[in-house]
Amino acid sequence: MTGPLIRAEGLAKTFDAKRGAFRAPRQIQAVADLDLALDRGAALGIVGESGCGKSTLARLLLRLLPPSAGRITFDGQDITALDERAMRPLRRRMQLIHQNPSAALDPRLTAEDAVAEPLRAQGLASGRALRDRVAALLAEVGLPPAFLHRYPHELSGGQKQRVCIARALALAPDLLVLDEPTSALDVSVQAQILDVLDGLRARHGLAFLFISHNLAVVRQVCERVAVMYLGRIVEEGTAAEVLGAPRHPYTRALLASVPRLEARGVTPAAPGEPPNPAAPPPGCAFQPRCPIAAEACGAAMPPLLDLADGHRLRCPRADGTAP
Ligand SMILES: Nc1ncnc2c1ncn2[C@@H]1O[C@H](COP(=O)(O)OP(=O)(O)OP(=O)(O)O)[C@@H](O)[C@H]1O
Ligand SMILES: [Mg+2]
Repeated sequence: MTGPLIRAEGLAKTFDAKRGAFRAPRQIQAVADLDLALDRGAALGIVGESGCGKSTLARLLLRLLPPSAGRITFDGQDITALDERAMRPLRRRMQLIHQNPSAALDPRLTAEDAVAEPLRAQGLASGRALRDRVAALLAEVGLPPAFLHRYPHELSGGQKQRVCIARALALAPDLLVLDEPTSALDVSVQAQILDVLDGLRARHGLAFLFISHNLAVVRQVCERVAVMYLGRIVEEGTAAEVLGAPRHPYTRALLASVPRLEARGVTPAAPGEPPNPAAPPPGCAFQPRCPIAAEACGAAMPPLLDLADGHRLRCPRADGTAP
């Protein structure tokens, strides 16, 4: 099969915002006009401030949330409007890893049972073969047999996340969507989990959509990075280019604020107030905070332009030399 593993075209999601007593109902455009493609075995990082739509994008791609507009194709198949029954054979091929492994694990299941559950449910193994398979999966994420019979409350945060990863791996997926998978963990544990993920991707040819506020983590794991601002991609390219030589003024601001905030586990932010997602500014959404904004920037949303080298940029004024 040629073409990307997963592709989004013109993807959008609008939520009804909570309305105050006297205010008219408003809508939040959580994801807008979003095109992306992820190849088999590739890793794409998604970064951007809190509320920019990263988790909404993840849930849309996994068909956990119906899109308001646009199209999603998985392995060449249009999955935008598939019902749950038609999605079922695809569900095992796309797995989600959350930030909080404690919430993802059933407290009544041992590590062995948690990983065995999807295999049993799909009738893929039983008895001795099932036990061997589960032990092998847990070994792959660095949990020796001594951990098989432990319950979540007997595991550290990092060990719980390893169980979640082994469980996601059980059905041999093609795609892991990782939504801040290490944000809740200590820095030393984070590094171990990233090593585990790197190894799994290399051995199994997994594709990663890797959401993280930590730009250093994204740089370590992903070849490509997309930067989101208020629901839209503003820049995308290789991790080396986007994080090493950022062109969009928002990417630059994000990187400039990293050392201060990343140490505290806070999503880096550009200077100034983030816009109200229910009342975005006219034109380019970043324009009120942008150091190189001109009058024209408030007139129309700039398009996401394809540059020659596979770089995409939503700023006609950023030529790579502006401050
Ligand atoms: N179910 C919902 N109903 C209404 N608004 C929502 C809903 N889910 C998300 N939103 C809004 O959509 C926007 C994007 O939210 P989302 O959770 O995707 O952001 P995020 O980038 O994942 O943020 P964070 O870094 O904090 O996890 C936000 O303004 C959020 O308030
Ligand atoms: Mg999120």
